[in-house]
Parts: sequence; C-alpha cells; structure tokens
Amino acid sequence: RPGAQQWVPEGAGIPALREAAKGCRGCELWEPAEQVVFSAGPPSATMVLVGEQPGDQEDRRGMPFVGPAGTLLVQAVKDAGIDPATVYRTNAVKHFRFEQRGARRIHKTPETVHITACRPWLHAELGELSPGIVVALGATAGRALFGRAVRIGAERGRVLEGAIADSDAKSLLTAHPSAVLRMQRDPGYDEAYAALVADLRTAAAAAG
Ligand code: URA
Ligand code: SF4
Repeated sequence: RPGAQQWVPEGAGIPALREAAKGCRGCELWEPAEQVVFSAGPPSATMVLVGEQPGDQEDRRGMPFVGPAGTLLVQAVKDAGIDPATVYRTNAVKHFRFEQRGARRIHKTPETVHITACRPWLHAELGELSPGIVVALGATAGRALFGRAVRIGAERGRVLEGAIADSDAKSLLTAHPSAVLRMQRDPGYDEAYAALVADLRTAAAAAG
C-alpha cells in the first residue's frame, strides 16, 4: 500500500520523526525534490500552523515558510500579536510538488493522493504535540486535518472543537498565505491580509 505509514516510527518524538522523514518514499514527490521539509518551532507550542507543502525556497533550504508566502505569514503572525518563535509550523505534504519549466520550478498544488500519502506524518506530529489550537492554512491543510473538502470563504475564522479526527485540539480554518500574496496588486489586498491577521488573533485567543 502506498503512503508514508511504513516510514513513520511509532512513538517517536518530533526530532526522530524529522530524521525518519528523510527516508520517506510514501509517494513519488520525494524524487524530484531537493529534500524533505518537515517542520519548525517548539513541540511545546500552544499554536500549530499547518500549510500546504514546501515551496521552491523551502525545498532549497529545508525549512518551512521561509519563502515569500512564509514571510507574509510570519508578518501576519506578528501583526496578530503572536511571537512566531513560539508557534509550531508544518505542512500537510512534506515534499515540494512542482513542474520544471526551463530553469524555473513552478508550484503544483498537491492532489488528494499526495495529501493522503503524507497524512501519517501529520498524524504522528499531532500525536506528539499538545496544542491548544491547530490552524489550517488553506484547502490542502483543511483536507488533511478535517478529512474532507473545505471552502475557505464559507468556513474560515471559526473555532471548531472535535473537528480533527485524531486530535482533541481546537482548530480553525483560514486562507493560505499564498492566496493573500497573489492579491498583492489587487484592491482587495489590505482586506485579505487583515482577514488573515484577524483569524490568527481569533486562534491565539482560543489557544489559551
Ligand atoms: N511555505 C510552506 O512551507 N508552506 C506553505 O504552505 C507555503 C509556503
Ligand atoms: Fe513521503 Fe510525504 Fe514526501 Fe510523499 S510527500 S514522499 S508521503 S514525505
């Protein structure tokens, strides 16, 4: 059976999971990528942010949320009154999915099959963490955490209880920082950014 499960060490802490993920062959995404991008931040975090997948910069540097979308997210976290260093950051899919076009690597949204294959890593992380709240950034994280298709516009910004199958943490769905970044030259940008900050504030207040 495909999927990451056979590479996930049982009962392992976050550092051991991070190490083991280097060997994962649970789907085909490992091969063209430079490296696995596991997570960053303290396992004791009261807030966990779950993104989609590493981007180009993240794949090169081996760290989540260090590219343009990550930079926007970190600023939004700060603007919400949260110290980014206290937040655990991870992704639903741990290898960069892209299409090579000449010298450029163009981001490709992971499919449900990749989300499902990579889900054992997120499951293991949630088993090791004890956050007050888990924030799903965008539709991929929403699918990974809630096990169903989500609609950001209709569902964002609400604190949910018992919505994540394998965690008793509260959760909240919000926009993906890339979606906000893409609006940078649109008139709606300020509003979109403010909505992301407001959702992060709501999450922080609920995290306790
Ligand atoms: N960087 C990440 O690590 N994850 C995202 O979802 C976006 C940017
Ligand atoms: Fe394993 Fe996830 Fe990478 Fe696929 S994307 S190889 S399941 S770590």
